[in-house]
Amino acid sequence: MTILVTGGTGYIGSHTVVELHKLGQDVVILDNLSNSKLIVLDRIEQISGKRPLFIEADIRDAAALDSVFSEHDIKAVIHFAGLKAVGESVAEPLRYYDNNVAGSLRLLEAMSKAKVKNVIFSSSATVYGSPERLPIDEDCALRTTNPYGANKLQIEQMMGDLCVSDADWSVVALRYFNPVGAHESGLIGEDPKGIPNNLMPFITQVASGLRAELSVFGDDYDTPDGSGVRDYIHVVDLALGHVKALGLFTKAIGFNPINLGTGNGYSVLEMVKSFERVNEIKIPFNISPRRPGDIASCYAQPNKALTMMDWQASKGLDQMMKDAWHWQSNNPNGYE
Ligand code: NAD
Ligand code: UD1
Repeated sequence: MTILVTGGTGYIGSHTVVELHKLGQDVVILDNLSNSKLIVLDRIEQISGKRPLFIEADIRDAAALDSVFSEHDIKAVIHFAGLKAVGESVAEPLRYYDNNVAGSLRLLEAMSKAKVKNVIFSSSATVYGSPERLPIDEDCALRTTNPYGANKLQIEQMMGDLCVSDADWSVVALRYFNPVGAHESGLIGEDPKGIPNNLMPFITQVASGLRAELSVFGDDYDTPDGSGVRDYIHVVDLALGHVKALGLFTKAIGFNPINLGTGNGYSVLEMVKSFERVNEIKIPFNISPRRPGDIASCYAQPNKALTMMDWQASKGLDQMMKDAWHWQSNNPNGYE
């Protein structure tokens, strides 16, 4: 029995494939390489001693999906494939709806046809928008503020409707908080294109001299030091969350949204200080205006993951900082 991993050569997908291999699980990756590179397969093999089967295809390609399901004994799908840049989704909404929503629809149709009815979906804390309360539990109101967030919510709704229509479906929608860090080997990690939008890759690029200084977006939020607070989670902990979620298919049918976060919030300035202390590298920064659309604080109530699938994050902030820098310093230009 094999797991189909869409988007498996990407940042979170590659870390998850490594953890699946560790358990002896067979994996088929389907990815169109729109935001990843083939060399990732070599790196996965270097770490895990096993090369995943790779199919270069798009999740919107129904024929390609049908042949994957007919040629392999797929028992479940982990669905990472998607575009993920919030700003880009505002500028190019139709591209996002097509790739993310229509792509997920094609995938669910192919799964339905093949009678493969177990799926883990990469959702995001972005579905809580400006959160109703803190810490954020899975019952908080769902409201999104940009097309990327709307995509995640629509895909969740589509999956929920499918579960209502057919009790054989089991869907786990993992709502990630802020994934950071890299595999401890330094062989796989996050490889953003161009100027990073997210905090952690920006910090590591300042550390390596690629960027002059970090702009801290706002120091006047209602938080202890005025900078934005987020729930950063080590990508390997996140990957292990997917492995645990596979165990839910035998006991939980229907639609199950589950937060993957640590429950701890750290501010931008705390992140900078922590990186500087752990890696002994100074990060020059300036205080800039708030970034439009940002919220003051966002952190998870992670108890549902513990009760339902016996998962909790185990890697702390120091490990995230150390591993993020190990990856960046070993691969200053990413996978180039
Ligand atoms: P990533 O860009 O590194 O990986 C996504 C992969 O999907 C890439 O390899 C890309 O080539 C592939 N892909 C995109 N569109 C495709 C298509 N139409 N057909 C086939 N392959 C396609 O991103 P990531 O950080 O690993 O994120 C994985 C998933 O997790 C995404 O769905 C993202 O929205 C979600 N997510 C990410 C974060 C984060 O901070 N990284 C947070 C919350 C949720
Ligand atoms: C962003 C996305 C969110 C996505 C998440 C993880 C937006 C509005 N939201 O969330 O949908 O799920 O990434 O990929 O883009 N910061 C700086 N300077 C920087 C970069 C960031 O000060 O150069 C601050 C931000 O203001 C924020 C914190 O760092 O307070 C984290 O930012 P970021 O890494 O972009 O993640 P989110 O905004 O939480």
